[in-house]
Amino acid sequence: MSAKSIVVLISGSGSNLQALLDHFADQPDVARISAVFSNKADAYGLERAAKAGVPSHVLSHRDHADRLSFDQAMMAQIDQYQPDLVILAGFMRILTPEFTRHYAGRLLNIHPSLLPKYKGLDTHQRALAAGDSEHGCSVHFVTEELDGGPVIIQARTDIRPGDSADSLAHRVHQLEHRIYPLATQWFVDERLQLGAQGAVLDNRLLPSTGHQLDVSSP
Ligand code: GAR
Repeated sequence: MSAKSIVVLISGSGSNLQALLDHFADQPDVARISAVFSNKADAYGLERAAKAGVPSHVLSHRDHADRLSFDQAMMAQIDQYQPDLVILAGFMRILTPEFTRHYAGRLLNIHPSLLPKYKGLDTHQRALAAGDSEHGCSVHFVTEELDGGPVIIQARTDIRPGDSADSLAHRVHQLEHRIYPLATQWFVDERLQLGAQGAVLDNRLLPSTGHQLDVSSP
């Protein structure tokens, strides 16, 4: 089996990209991050890619007449890397159905909430404002529905007295860096697929909230 090609899309800091780079650094025969794409020229994640020796590309929507032509340009460039998997890691643009269909079953996203709660933006603030007792993050297959595709894995943290959106974001980020490499590893090991009914791990349909990470284990 040849090494799987993974393309990562970012818009910002790229700490999840870093977690993936670190995770796969010692398994070059299994998978490699073959390219990074950003829609922002100043995304810090581009430096992370350069440091890891991974080619990167910046595509600005301003160079394209509409959302579809931007997505088509991205697809053409991404496909040069013949990706087995495309990973959205803090990529803050809504994708067209053409894009999500093109990569159906090989497109993952990480979202900073316990889906189906808090799709969209400002998730930490919204969890606090709702008085929730817990919060977390989810990795899911991307479908046409924004933040609505089948969930693969979630990790939870208690909301503590005195928590702010920032303190919550920090804890959730630590959890993201655990669940994204794990879900990606399942995919490249061909243990994880998008089935007709939802996400399938080891030939078993996952529950609608996905596998729950045991956060007590290291
Ligand atoms: C992460 O918290 C990720 O869950 C979120 O952006 C952050 C990117 O951080 N994604 C979304 O909100 C997508 N709707 P990073 O650039 O350090 O990986």
